[in-house]
Amino acid sequence: MQIERDPYRVAGTAGLRHTPRLAPRWTAIMYIWIKALHVAFMVTWFAGLFYLPRLFIYPAMADDAPGLERFEILEKRLFAIMTIGAVLTLVFGLVMLAMNPALFAVGWFQIKLILLAGLAVYHYRCLTWMRRLKAGYQPDGTTWLRWFNEIPVMFLLGIILLAVAKPF
Ligand code: HEM
Repeated sequence: MQIERDPYRVAGTAGLRHTPRLAPRWTAIMYIWIKALHVAFMVTWFAGLFYLPRLFIYPAMADDAPGLERFEILEKRLFAIMTIGAVLTLVFGLVMLAMNPALFAVGWFQIKLILLAGLAVYHYRCLTWMRRLKAGYQPDGTTWLRWFNEIPVMFLLGIILLAVAKPF
């Protein structure tokens, strides 16, 4: 087997629409750096998606005012950070799409888009839970919240497998 030593060719950027005024190789190099930033901000986004719903479980059980207030501050900050992560993941993703619009016709990417729509709904549901708990809502138990907390794992696995393995 022949080993490809040029990282910008290994990464499969052959179908890129080349940026005018830039040599094809520079377009490919830019694409890879943008992809790296996309993945880095995706990690920030998911750090929040994994941890924020865990923060909901305590306020759902407790009723001491200072403790609840502290949790509200933590939740607000974490939500702000994960939203910044989401926006930057989206921005770098859109830049790559502008450079490589042929992806819209590719099966794995179309399914990724469907999963992304689900992820956006989940992100929004985190906001609505935050508001409910702030308004003093106390659920009967925490079982639903514990299941809710597991949902991002499914999205992460699905999207990463599709984006990296590109099976179809
Ligand atoms: C927010 C909207 C998003 C858009 C518009 C988007 C778009 C893209 C695009 C266009 C690529 C380049 C694909 C290629 O050239 O093969 C890409 C790569 C990637 N995306 Fe996203 N993405 C988004 C969100 C996510 C999320 C939420 C995850 C993780 C859960 C993710 C994980 C990845 C990974 C790991 C790669 C690199 C795949 C490789 O190895 O080539 N993306 N994304």
